[in-house]
This record gives sequence, structure tokens and C-alpha cells, in this order.
Amino acid sequence: MDRNLALDLVRTTEAAALASARAMGRGDERMADQLAVDAMRTALNQIDMDAVVVIGEGERDDAPMLYVGERVGTGTGPRVEVAVDPLEGTTICASGGPNALSVIAASEEGGFLRAPDTCMDKIAVGPEARGAIDIDRSPSENLEAISEAKRVPVENLTVVILDRPRHEKLVDEVRRVGARIKLIKDGDVSAAIATCSRDRSVDVLMGIGGAAEGVIAAAAIRCFSGDMQARLQPRNEREVERAREMGIRDVGARLTLDELVSGGVMFAATGVTRGDFLNGVRFRAQGALTQSVVMRSQSMTVRYIDAEHNFRYKQP
Ligand code: FBP
Repeated sequence: MDRNLALDLVRTTEAAALASARAMGRGDERMADQLAVDAMRTALNQIDMDAVVVIGEGERDDAPMLYVGERVGTGTGPRVEVAVDPLEGTTICASGGPNALSVIAASEEGGFLRAPDTCMDKIAVGPEARGAIDIDRSPSENLEAISEAKRVPVENLTVVILDRPRHEKLVDEVRRVGARIKLIKDGDVSAAIATCSRDRSVDVLMGIGGAAEGVIAAAAIRCFSGDMQARLQPRNEREVERAREMGIRDVGARLTLDELVSGGVMFAATGVTRGDFLNGVRFRAQGALTQSVVMRSQSMTVRYIDAEHNFRYKQP
């Protein structure tokens, strides 16, 4: 993949972030999401590439735009596949909370796990704990291994967990081991990335979230040289069937980082609301400021981009 594609991708997340940030705190999740989807799609269709959405807003029938299978780009240029989440954290954005992001990842054909619309159990860590995690082991065993790899006492580790009743046992076990916990209402992509980002504000993400979000987070973690393992958690027989139809033979299998995302991958994200590792959109009299991260697994270069958008010259 042409390395300049990475900078084109960041324009799509900037556009989606600028659009959805207008809906911050308005209490309307659908509007926030629609603004992000429309803006990202328009920006994607200006890029010289022949791309197909493999992780998107849902299946064709439920998602009018950026649905799985939709072709985007001008149709000329490299053949790639994209995994998009124009607004990761719709509820966060609608309530003005922290860590809403616009994200996109691109890979060569066949690079992303075809994840059905279901749940996924995840464990994600930064580069220092690469190779130390195993989703088949208990949370306590993983925390011991991460503590050893990072040379940090378990009591100093911070674990991010989505605040859901399904995580009651997990939270109890982490508390018993003595690690610190950050319970989040939404946004586990941001939490996974925070294990790898500049100030490593958290050490590990554990627990069940969305499967699509898992694949997107894996793309970012691969570019940061972190580590992740996962397991699909279908909620019913229909989701098991759907996973099989999408080519996953053993639906209950442990998925390594390489099985989630393989080959060369690019990742871009822009903050919508203020977050742990990216600033949110800040509007000014005639424009706005955005902060993004863009990276490529081939070079492992991580670029943080502060952009000043001037609406007198270019309307978002
Ligand atoms: P949306 O942006 O689609 O609302 O996703 C937010 C999110 O919190 C994800 O970060 C997470 O993976 C998923 O929802 C968790 O799903 P659930 O709310 O069903 O636990």
C-alpha cells in the first residue's frame, strides 16, 4: 500500500470528527453517528483507491452507508479493504463524555478478520507486555505476567474494563489481585489504544465489547507493536451461523493479534471529544482544531497530527 494513503485516511477521520463534534452533548446518538458516517463516506470517495468496507456500520440491509461490502474510493488506485468506525462512542459524543473517536484502518486484501456483528472478549496490552498475555489464562494469571513483563508491581497496574453487569466477576477478581481499575461507560477502542499510546495511561484492557471494535483496535495495536488476543462471544445461534458464513470455522477459538489483523496495515484516528490520548475537536471563530494519530505497521511510524482547519477556505 502506498504510504501516502495513510495521510488520505486521516483526512477521512478529521472530516468525520469535525462533523460529529457539532452534535456533542445534544443527546441525539443517531444524529451524531449520521453526521460522522456522511462526512467519512464523502471523504473516502475522494481518495484514489479501489476499496471495500469489511468492517463497517453493519450489514447492507441495516446500514444505508458504509455497510459491509460497500465499495468506496474513486475506483482507481490500490485495491484495499477498510475497517471503519466513523464515530466510536456514539453515546459518549451525544452526552459530551470523554474518548469519542473517529477511526479507520486499511489493509491489503484479506488482512482483517471478517467479524460478524457480535461481541468479543478481549485482552490488549502495550509493547512492553507483548507476548505476556493469554486469553485462556485467568485475569489474575495475566496480571501477574504483565506485571513481570513490565517490571511494575501488580498494585500499580491499571486495568480498563467496560462498566457492564457481565463484568462483575472480572472486576471482583482484579480487585482481589490488587490492581487498579478504570471502569468506562463506553469506548473500548480508545482504551485499547491507551495501553500503547505515548503516556501509556493504562496497562491493559480486559473484558467483552463489540467484535468490530476489537478488529479495529487490533489494527492500531499492531501498528504500535502492542499485543492483543480475543475470542468471539456470539449471543445466539444466529450469530454463530453468521460467523461461520463469514468464514470463521471455529467460532469459539482464541484469536491472536495476527489472526485479527495480518499483513501491512494503516490506522488513523481523530479525537471527537477530549480523550486520554487525543484532544477532541475545538471550534474557533472561523475554523477548528483537531488532533489525530496516523500509523503504518510497515514502518511502525506513529505520527500525531495537530491540524488547524480554516472554514473560510474549506467548509467541513
Ligand atoms: P458505539 O460507538 O457503536 O456506540 O460503541 C461503543 C462501545 O462502547 C464500544 O466501544 C464497545 O466495544 C461496545 O460499545 C460495547 O458494547 P455494549 O454496549 O453492548 O456493551
